[in-house]
Amino acid sequence: MLSSDDLRLMREVVLKKTGIDLSCYKENQLRRRLQFIILRSGASDVSEYLRLLEENPRVLEDFKNRFTINVSEFFRNPERFRDLEEKILPDLLALGSWEVKIWSAGCSVGSEPYSLAILFEEKGLSRRYRIWATDLDEPALAKAESGQYSQEYLKNVPPPLQEKYFIKLTQNGYQVNPKLKRRIKFEKHDLLRDPVEDHFQLVICRNVVIYFENEAKNQAFSKLSQALVPGGYLWIGSTERISSPADFGLQYVIPFFYRKVEGGK
Ligand SMILES: C[S@@+](CC[C@H](N)C(=O)[O-])C[C@H]1O[C@@H](n2cnc3c(N)ncnc32)[C@H](O)[C@@H]1O
Repeated sequence: MLSSDDLRLMREVVLKKTGIDLSCYKENQLRRRLQFIILRSGASDVSEYLRLLEENPRVLEDFKNRFTINVSEFFRNPERFRDLEEKILPDLLALGSWEVKIWSAGCSVGSEPYSLAILFEEKGLSRRYRIWATDLDEPALAKAESGQYSQEYLKNVPPPLQEKYFIKLTQNGYQVNPKLKRRIKFEKHDLLRDPVEDHFQLVICRNVVIYFENEAKNQAFSKLSQALVPGGYLWIGSTERISSPADFGLQYVIPFFYRKVEGGK
């Protein structure tokens, strides 16, 4: 069991070595995740693990990979993508701007922004969207840039769309069609530390803030809302909820979608 002193030391070393601020993450989950990582490393105790973290780049890399949970897939929660297409997109297109500017925050290995690109391409809106896809995890972003995925990532992609937007490389390996990349910019960005761009019509942040402490979560919702134009939409994960959307200048629309109100902060 990690003591409070161990946890404090872990926070200091991890912040110094990786820039990740562990104090923003829920303590019970954090303890469990750190204990698991330390156990798997083979270190005999926390101080040995901290020494390895300071001295051994491979241990540091392994920590970052294990700490940032990158689970994702194409069209994750397909019914929500249907809501986006049928109930939200017409409104987005009516906002008046030729190009729908989208931010996929915590995009992990890229299947979320690529799914959005497929949706826009399928609607014949090839030149009417642009996606800023960000995550703090560099290996995840490198995978996103490479656009290569195993079959399990594609399980929600209907076969005709698989045919159209993926190139089969091996028995189990696929490459996204390079044309999907044209309108996506992948970039390293920490939602809790880095300044955000603005004037987005759609901001998507799904399954990212679930690991955050309440204060960090509120800070994240504030930033996500600030990035939106009035009338723009925030889409959050299917296990998440914003209990007081008005605090962030947002209004509940349908499950998991919120609209930025006119004059909202
Ligand atoms: C479970 S994945 C979600 C991926 C995708 N949004 C989805 O729902 O399929 C969570 C991602 O959040 C990223 N993340 C965690 N904390 C973050 C932070 N402070 N800033 C940016 N990304 C963060 C992790 O690196 C990870 O890739």
